[in-house]
Amino acid sequence: MKSDISVKTNGISSFIRTEDIALYTERAKTSLITLREGKGLGNQFTGWLRLPDRTVEETEGIKRCAARLRSQAPVTVVVGIGGSYLGAKALTEALSDPFSEHEHTLLFAGHTLSEDYHASLLRYLDHTSYNILVISKSGTTTEPAIAFRILRDHMRKTAGAEVMKSRIVAITDAQRGALHKLAVEEGYETFVIPDDVGGRYSVLTPVGLLPLALAGYDADAFVRGMRDMALSVREGDDTATNIAIAYAAARNTLYHKGYTTEILISYEPSLVYLAEWWKQLYGESEGKESKGIFPSSVTFTTDLHSMGQYIQQGERKLFETVIHVEESRHSLVVPGAADDSDGIGFIAGRSLTDVNHKAEAGTRIAHIDGGVPVIKISMKRIDEYNLGQLMYFFELACAVSGYILEINPFDQPGVESYKRNMFALLGKKGFEAERERLEKELKEKS
Ligand code: PA5
Repeated sequence: MKSDISVKTNGISSFIRTEDIALYTERAKTSLITLREGKGLGNQFTGWLRLPDRTVEETEGIKRCAARLRSQAPVTVVVGIGGSYLGAKALTEALSDPFSEHEHTLLFAGHTLSEDYHASLLRYLDHTSYNILVISKSGTTTEPAIAFRILRDHMRKTAGAEVMKSRIVAITDAQRGALHKLAVEEGYETFVIPDDVGGRYSVLTPVGLLPLALAGYDADAFVRGMRDMALSVREGDDTATNIAIAYAAARNTLYHKGYTTEILISYEPSLVYLAEWWKQLYGESEGKESKGIFPSSVTFTTDLHSMGQYIQQGERKLFETVIHVEESRHSLVVPGAADDSDGIGFIAGRSLTDVNHKAEAGTRIAHIDGGVPVIKISMKRIDEYNLGQLMYFFELACAVSGYILEINPFDQPGVESYKRNMFALLGKKGFEAERERLEKELKEKS
């Protein structure tokens, strides 16, 4: 099946040799076969690969739960961090109409330890009824655990203990973890994150689907997009016409030429959190064993007036992956003016999308001329179906890239280091020796 997303690598051809891209295309093909056959590193966490084939029945239960939550309060606070936060945030930001009233408001918590953020959230919640959707695969992550405790306490005081069972929904492991235990004890409606799906690959589980449905978007279309892309890239050709192979091969060829930072670029502010989701996916999957492309992001044309200078003329280790959106959802043209005193009469009557596309084309040439290779990913428009396609494509290409790098793209051992130190400094039992060492080090280094 052909996908609606395309990948163009003409913008890197003057920076690499044909034999290098051929070599990495071969490696990408082998990596895809390894992934598909479940023979690679971390293969016990590749359940996401086939999620689109089996999500349809589950979506019905998710939609029912979303309708129930929507009918009982105008607001839902989604509690989670990392993979239990960014997919939902990316989707709802991409689809939302920023200046219109929402039928149901989603707020987020547990992705930060900021006292001011959570205090302000509670002040807002003092004046509205709300649900809590708590998401944690492990059920033991500190940030969401703290936020969930604070919110439960607030809900008990403001709405009363009797409503809590119906107002709280948990998404967690089927059997393990503190959140699972609490949900069973309190009788919360619960959805499961499958064992074989890691956090950052979980957007097609209830982790992404329930917030999507709650916010009033079309979860079925998102699933369809994911499924069509799975048929295209997972089941597709093992050749460079497979866009996941093309993207993985292009970025790895560049990486091995010394282009160690990838900047994901879009010209749509609604895609800022999609870039955050992408950064987590690629950063946490690839950045290990002293290897990996550093993923970063900017939004143009906004950031052409800040980071644009560095990209044009700074250190030459950067390459760009530009998300080109073909159609906008609304139409708006630059109006004509009798006197042209602002000097932009030459674009009167042109749509903003046309102007935005010209800015994109001009920037592309300027950056290539300035020594920055550019990969172009085109999508038709920003809707549920196309986002489903794009996200599955990125997940599969990420796993393929990880295998090219010969690392396990499904673990995150480095994330534990800060947690150990934080627990020791907060005085958690069992971390006493660590605490002493850290406090000594802090005296010397602070
Ligand atoms: O991708 C991952 O596995 C992580 O980013 C996790 O999603 C994140 O640490 C949150 O974990 P949990 O869902 O267990 O609370």
